[in-house]
Amino acid sequence: MPSSALAPLFQPFQIKSLTLPNRIVMAPMTRSFSPGGVPGADVAAYYRRRAENEVGLILSEGTVVDRPASRNEPGIPFFHGEAALGGWRQVIDDVHEAGGKMGPQIWHTGAVKSFQTDWTPDAPVESPSGLAAPGRPLGEAMSEAAIADTVAAFARAAADAKRLGFDTVEIHGAHGYLIDEFFWGGVNLRTDRYGGATLKERSRFAGEIVAAVRAAVGPDFPIILRVSQWKSQDFTVRLAQTPDAMADWLQPLVDAGVDVLHCSQRRFWEAEFPEIDGEDGLNFAGWAKKLTGAATISVGSVGLSGDFISAFGGETSTPTSLDRLVRRMERQEFDLIAVGRALLSDPAWARKVHEGAEAELHDFSPAALATLI
Ligand SMILES: Cc1cc2nc3c(=O)[nH]c(=O)nc-3n(C[C@H](O)[C@H](O)[C@H](O)COP(=O)(O)O)c2cc1C
Repeated sequence: MPSSALAPLFQPFQIKSLTLPNRIVMAPMTRSFSPGGVPGADVAAYYRRRAENEVGLILSEGTVVDRPASRNEPGIPFFHGEAALGGWRQVIDDVHEAGGKMGPQIWHTGAVKSFQTDWTPDAPVESPSGLAAPGRPLGEAMSEAAIADTVAAFARAAADAKRLGFDTVEIHGAHGYLIDEFFWGGVNLRTDRYGGATLKERSRFAGEIVAAVRAAVGPDFPIILRVSQWKSQDFTVRLAQTPDAMADWLQPLVDAGVDVLHCSQRRFWEAEFPEIDGEDGLNFAGWAKKLTGAATISVGSVGLSGDFISAFGGETSTPTSLDRLVRRMERQEFDLIAVGRALLSDPAWARKVHEGAEAELHDFSPAALATLI
C-alpha cells in the first residue's frame, strides 16, 4: 500500500493534556521479565525501541496494584513500592528521551490463573464471589473493606503514574480479570451494592475505581479504560447483547471520568452487532464511541493473519494488508488503533508501515514471546 493511502493512521490526535503524532498504540502485553516485580534496564530499553520507531502511544504490559495476590505470574511488574516505581521512572524517562508517550496499564488479576505457570501467590486470590469462572470456586469473595482498599490501590497507582511523569494511565477492566469479574454476571453473584441483575449495577466497582483515579490525577490527565466482551476464561461470553446494554455498561464509566475506552477484540474488523448494521458494521470500539461519545481505541490482529490466541497455541502469523483498517479509520469509526504482536516482535513495525516498507515486515513467530526484542 503506498504510504499516502495510510494518511488516516498518521494523523495527530489530542485528548486533554495528551498529544500524539499518530494513531498507533502499542497494546499492553504481559512479558514477565521483571524479577521480583521490578522492571529493569532491559524492560526500559524494550519500550524505548518502540518510542524511537514512531509508535504514537505506548501502553505498558499489565503492572499490578498494591494488593496481596494482585498478580498471577512471578515476573509481572509491580506498580507500587520504591524499587518497582524506580524501574518505571527509568522506563518513562527513556521513552520521553526518545520522543515517545506512554501510560502504564494498571491491573489486578483477580481469580484468573495464569496458563503459563503453576506459580501461585502467597495470599489467597480475591474476586467478587470467590469464583474463577462460573461454577469454579477459587480463592475468596472480597469483603467491602477489601473492595475499598483495592479502589484506593488503583488510585495510588494512578497518582504514582502521574508523579513519575507518565502521559496517561490505562485501567485494565477487560479479559476476565478482577474488574471484569465484577461486570460479569456469571461470576459476580454478590447481593450487596457491587452485584445485581444489570450491567449498570455490576459496573459500580469499576465506576468507583475510575472516580478515585480521576480524583487522584486531576481533571486534565487522560484516563483510558480497557474493556472486553470476551473473557480469558470463556471467549464466547458477551456482556452486552444489545446497544442498550452496552450503553448501560459503559456510560456510567465515562460519566465517572473515563476519557478513552479501549475496546478489546480479537479481530478488529468483526462487527459488534451485525444484526443491526450488517457484517461490515461498527466494531466494538465503533459502537462504544457512538453510544458514549468517548474517544475509543480498537485492536485485534492488525497486520497479521492469525489472532493472538493462536499465537499462544504456537501458530505463526504472516503479515496482511492494512486496507480494512484504513477504511474504518477513514470513516472515523474509532480514534486510535492498538497493535499487539506485530509490535512485540518488531520494534520498527510502525516506522516500516509509515515508510511503505512492506517487504521488511515479517512473520510473527511465538518464539518472540521468549525474549525482549
Ligand atoms: C504476549 C501477550 C501478552 C498480553 N498481555 C496483555 C495484558 O497484560 N493486558 C491486556 O490488556 N492485554 C494483553 N494482551 C492482549 C493484547 O493487548 C492485544 O489485545 C491482543 O494481543 C490482540 O492484539 P494483536 O492481535 O495485535 O496481537 C496480551 C497479548 C499477548 C500476545
